[in-house]
Amino acid sequence: MLGGYFNFSEIHALIMRFDIITKLLSYFYPITTKIRTEKNGIVELTYSSGRKILDNSNANYSYGSLQRILKFGLEKIEFTKVNDVLLLGLGGGSVIHTLRNDFGFTGKITAVEIDKTIIDIAMNEFELMLDANLETIHTDATEYVKNNAKKSDLLIVDIYIDAIVPSDFYTTQFWNNALQLINKNGYFIFNACIFNENSEKQMSDLLNYLRTSNSIQLFNKVEGTNTLIVGTKN
Ligand SMILES: C[S@@+](CC[C@H](N)C(=O)[O-])C[C@H]1O[C@@H](n2cnc3c(N)ncnc32)[C@H](O)[C@@H]1O
Repeated sequence: MLGGYFNFSEIHALIMRFDIITKLLSYFYPITTKIRTEKNGIVELTYSSGRKILDNSNANYSYGSLQRILKFGLEKIEFTKVNDVLLLGLGGGSVIHTLRNDFGFTGKITAVEIDKTIIDIAMNEFELMLDANLETIHTDATEYVKNNAKKSDLLIVDIYIDAIVPSDFYTTQFWNNALQLINKNGYFIFNACIFNENSEKQMSDLLNYLRTSNSIQLFNKVEGTNTLIVGTKN
């Protein structure tokens, strides 16, 4: 136990032992476990009505409104043209679940995640199974897009620390590298949350940049909160 909080392996051992009981009890009241992570501070794993969700102190990370927001974006994509997906920001992996179960996507998914504890949570709590069609890479997504060349048909940028998209992910430098990793006529989705003048300005500069060589659809207030860019690379 670290400073009053359990570490991930202690929590996981406990949850595995009591998982069925916890699930049953969660129909009566939500049961929340706090987990200290490498890069995301304390996250909360909550069992409610038999379902698990992952939150940080200010926003849903996985399997809640975040999952519905990304599903809204994915509905704009023509999946017959998508063979490979690159996901930046694994979280609990709820969008992988959506891709597989709601859109019947069976192709390769590469997921990049900066926080090792979050990868462990995705594997152990949300039963993400690595196989030939799912690879997770533990690194910073800004470095990944700089140092890799493998292209995909759909790029999903779903990067948050707490409720904030770090500034790096609005820059032309990042998007210049990221767009190199998308095939011609491929798609990208950027999930952001505009909460002050600074992020509004960052978003407006990014949109101006992206519109120069891509077709862009902009969706505001998805689920009442988030801004989604859905783009096609021309
Ligand atoms: C909202 S969660 C992603 C949810 C996930 N896409 C899903 O469908 O469940 C945001 C994730 O971005 C990750 N992240 C933040 N900064 C990052 C970076 N520089 N590189 C890679 N991942 C990062 C966080 O650790 C966190 O797991």
